Amino acid sequence: MSTRPRIYLTQKIPEECEGWRLLRESCDVKVYDEIETGHMIVPRDQLLRDVRGVDALYLALPVQVDAELLDAAGPQLKVIATKSVGLNHIDLAECARRNIPVGYTPDVLTDAVAEATIALTLATARRHKEGIQAVHGGQWGKTWESSLYLCGKDICNSVVGIVGLGRIGLGVAKRLRAFGISRLLYCGRASKPHAAEVNGEYVSFDELLKMSDFVIACCSITPENHHLFNADAFGKMKKSAIFINASRGILVDQDALYVALASGQIFAAGLDVTTPEPLPPDHRLLTLPNCTVHPHLGSATVTARHAMADLSARNALAGLRGEPLPAPVPL
Ligand code: DGY
Repeated sequence: MSTRPRIYLTQKIPEECEGWRLLRESCDVKVYDEIETGHMIVPRDQLLRDVRGVDALYLALPVQVDAELLDAAGPQLKVIATKSVGLNHIDLAECARRNIPVGYTPDVLTDAVAEATIALTLATARRHKEGIQAVHGGQWGKTWESSLYLCGKDICNSVVGIVGLGRIGLGVAKRLRAFGISRLLYCGRASKPHAAEVNGEYVSFDELLKMSDFVIACCSITPENHHLFNADAFGKMKKSAIFINASRGILVDQDALYVALASGQIFAAGLDVTTPEPLPPDHRLLTLPNCTVHPHLGSATVTARHAMADLSARNALAGLRGEPLPAPVPL
């Protein structure tokens, strides 16, 4: 029987990644095979079986880590490496209680997520979803019927409010500065020294909602900010406001968002994240012309995904050796 550590991967690592070579060199690797099962995401009952006896767990969203999974793995589990910067799928308190270090992938995806957020902001402001639907539905000719056909909103000269000026929020702010915005507001638990790089003005959440033409959520998830964007929050926003969520779906009360969009209380929304993911194709948010939904594409560039895979592999290997992780989650 092999004495090498055992690692379970809930998703394949591209073979050209250094991380794949490193893991294969020193571990017995078992990878969930979505082709075999026909499910992109490992079904929970299979996951609970597959992790039994492993020393390391390498996971991709949206696999949930909780006491049940940790129990199923067993007490020999030494490390968890998540291929994400977001952590709301992991019960960190439970990992801390069991002294299991958790590694994640900050920094390596910041540029990709910031670029994706800009793309979603532009697509939402300029009504790309309606435009594409018009082209595919043979409605393009209407362009000439009204000079305001499919007119959207300018980013130039607008007031942008960023909720959570962390790494990704700052990346979004820097890019938006190049569009000639008039003010950059931000809110969060505390003011940030790096806000000076973008002339960011620290304001309260309410002030940000009231003053912003674009409200962009880039914050991490805490127990306090579940459904931060609820009927009350949408009610405080301008009727012309555009709401963008690049964080996590749980931040938004989607029923309240539907009402705000359908009633014209706000102009439009762009969501890269939803609850649940995937959003069912018959979900009522998808019926709205002014709601653009992307399938959680934030970090979806080859460069970012490879870097995430490599860093996750290095986190896992360090944990297996009992060494400090290159990118540990503070527990
Ligand atoms: C993350 O890593 O948390 C991102 O949401 C992935 O796109």
